[in-house]
Amino acid sequence: MLSLQDFEHRAKRRLPLSIFGYVSGGGEEDLSLRANRADFDALRFQPRILCDVSGRSQRLALFGQDHALPFAIAPMGFSALAAYDGDVVLAQAAREMGSFAICSAASLTPLERVAAQGGGGWFQCYIPGEETRIGALLDRLLTAGFDKLVVTGDVPVAANRENNAKNGFDAPFRITPQLIWQGITHPRWTLGTMGREIWTRGMPHFENMEAVQGPPLFSRDLVRSTIARDRLSWTHLDFIRARWPGKLLVKGVLHPDDARRARDCGCDGVIVSNHGGRQLDGAISGLRALPAVREAVPDMAVIVDGGIRRGTDVLKALALGADFTLVGRPFLYAAATDGVEGVRHAMKLLAEEVDRDMALLGVNRIEDLRGLSMVKA
Ligand code: FNR
Repeated sequence: MLSLQDFEHRAKRRLPLSIFGYVSGGGEEDLSLRANRADFDALRFQPRILCDVSGRSQRLALFGQDHALPFAIAPMGFSALAAYDGDVVLAQAAREMGSFAICSAASLTPLERVAAQGGGGWFQCYIPGEETRIGALLDRLLTAGFDKLVVTGDVPVAANRENNAKNGFDAPFRITPQLIWQGITHPRWTLGTMGREIWTRGMPHFENMEAVQGPPLFSRDLVRSTIARDRLSWTHLDFIRARWPGKLLVKGVLHPDDARRARDCGCDGVIVSNHGGRQLDGAISGLRALPAVREAVPDMAVIVDGGIRRGTDVLKALALGADFTLVGRPFLYAAATDGVEGVRHAMKLLAEEVDRDMALLGVNRIEDLRGLSMVKA
């Protein structure tokens, strides 16, 4: 395993098509998914030489907290379908590496179990546009020990991901005829991941979303909650801000006016993201949106994700003004193939790339990346 891409190739062999397709896929034509990579590839560095880079460090402070790495793990729902105890695995590995994993609202693990890993206190929520339901979730998060809340704003309705329908993937999780066949042909996943999950914790279900929406959660309820979610607006952000004492971030920002709006709501940061190309197909990449957002909210934390696969990608994002970066799919593939050890190894590989690339660029500190010369390929 020499690069993050290697984990994807191994995961593709290990996972049933429906699960791999769910993780890897984008919306409709994959335009935004491809843009995420293309926009990183289209940027070229103009490095400096003979700079004495022997004192380099990739340590980075975010919200006054020191982090060993300039990247963390993006929130990913259903992680436990791809990797046994996936949410806990991601949180544990990130903590051991001096980083953090953001627990997804669509996780299949009770948020208290994830919080117990000490993964940095980050929770991402999907909230229905109903204030009565929001308060209970915030109370539960505070009791569990989370102190950073990410409100994802780019899912007013479920996206159109045709690959899921074609491959037999359903939400909430259901055992479909396709999945049974895929399970027979992928025994390591069937026994080591899914079987083990059902054996130890029962049939996977949306532990945390149910708490917001009230059990039981059947497809019909998911539709209902989606309908409620499409009412979500900045007014709800005001409501959350008034009740949430911790850090508050909005995820899915691609327009500078939305970043300003988040700042005016009293948010502490924004995550510039097109959801890994999984929501609006044709949305610009987070990287493309980043410079204008940075300019719009110079005093806010700006985090970016989407398509980051190499140390050079992390450094390009930081050079364009990001305060921090998130990486999604590769770490889930690493969890799926080699558990905690796999995620640690993947994070180590990316950290080594960042370190080597900083030396090759001629910078010692992450702060020195600002103003680095880059050109369009
Ligand atoms: C996601 N993403 C996501 N985002 C979010 O806010 N809540 C969620 O529950 C999920 N779930 C989810 C599941 C899976 C399988 C993937 C791949 C992604 C989006 C995620 O947080 C992040 O924005 C992207 O994954 C970043 O892009 P890369 O690094 O995967 O290219």
